[in-house]
Amino acid sequence: MTPVVVTGKIPQSGLDVLNKAGLKVEAWTNDEAISRDELLKAVGGAEVLVTLLTEKIDAEVLDAAGPQLKAVCNVAVGHNNIDVYGCTQRGITVTNTPGVLTESTADIALALILMVTRRLAEGERVIRSASPWQWGMDYMLGSSIQHKQLGIIGMGAIGAATARRAKACGMSIAYTNRRPVSAELERELELTHMTLNDLLASSDVVSIHCPSNDATFHLLGEAQFALMKESAFLVNTARGPIVDEAALVAALQKGELAGAGLDVYEHEPVVHSGLLGRDDVVLLPHLGSATQETRSAMATLATRNAVAIASGGVPLTPVN
Ligand code: GLV
Repeated sequence: MTPVVVTGKIPQSGLDVLNKAGLKVEAWTNDEAISRDELLKAVGGAEVLVTLLTEKIDAEVLDAAGPQLKAVCNVAVGHNNIDVYGCTQRGITVTNTPGVLTESTADIALALILMVTRRLAEGERVIRSASPWQWGMDYMLGSSIQHKQLGIIGMGAIGAATARRAKACGMSIAYTNRRPVSAELERELELTHMTLNDLLASSDVVSIHCPSNDATFHLLGEAQFALMKESAFLVNTARGPIVDEAALVAALQKGELAGAGLDVYEHEPVVHSGLLGRDDVVLLPHLGSATQETRSAMATLATRNAVAIASGGVPLTPVN
C-alpha cells in the first residue's frame, strides 16, 4: 500500500482520521518544520501528501514523490505554497481547508485593527519596560474606529466575517472583490462596492483578505500607499506577498499611512528589519488560525480529504 505522507506536525485528530481509515501513514512529528532535503526524501512513493503552508510543493517535490501521487491536501485555506497549475497538469488533486478557520482568522483581523488603532502593543511595551507613566488627557491617544470606514480587499468568507465584527464596532464597510458578492451579504453588512483605488483613498482601515497568487502579488505597493489617507491603517491577515513590504516600510517612514497590523510577511518567517523598531506597527507571528479548536478542525478536514482521495472517493474541498 502506498502511504499517505504527512509533511508537518499536525494535531492528533488528523492522524486519527488517517489511522481509522486503515491507511499506511508516514508523518513528520517534529515541532520544527521539515527541511527541504528531508521533504524531498519523505515524499518518495506517496499516494497522498498532507502538507502545511511551510512546505513549498513545487515541481521538484512532485517529481520526488513520483507518478503515483494523487493528491496534495493542504492544512490551510491559502494554497500559495502549492504549484496548483503544475498539480492540475499532472492530474493531481489539490485540496484546502476553507470554512473551519474563518472565524478565528477574522478574530485576529479585528484584534489587529484594535491593536494598531488604539496603540495596544505599544502601551503594553510601556508597562513591561517598567518606564514611568501617568494617565493624562492626551497620553497615548489612538484613533476611534466607530464611524470610520473599513475597506476590505477580498470579500470572501474571512473578509465578510471581519466586516461583520467591524460593523458591530460601528464601522461602515467598503469592499473590493473580483466577483460581485450576494445581494443578501451587501444588505446585511450595508456594503459599498468600490474600485481598489477608491477604497484605498477613502478608508480609515484597509484589511486584506484576498488570495495570494500572481494576480495579487504586490497588489499594495508604492503607488497604492501613496493613495491612502495619512491617518489610515493597513491590516494584513492574508498572505505576505500581497504587500510589497519594502514599499510599506518606505510609506510608513514618509508618513503616507498611520500604521500597520501584520500577521503575515512577504518573506515569512523573516520580517523586514524596517518594521521591527516601529511603534506604529503591530507584528504577530501568523496566528490567524492558531486556536486549538481551529487547528484540530483544519487537520480533520485535510485528512478527510486525504482519505476520500486515497479510497477513490470525491474530496470535500477541492481547489482544482
Ligand atoms: C492560514 O494562513 C491558512 O491559509 O489557512
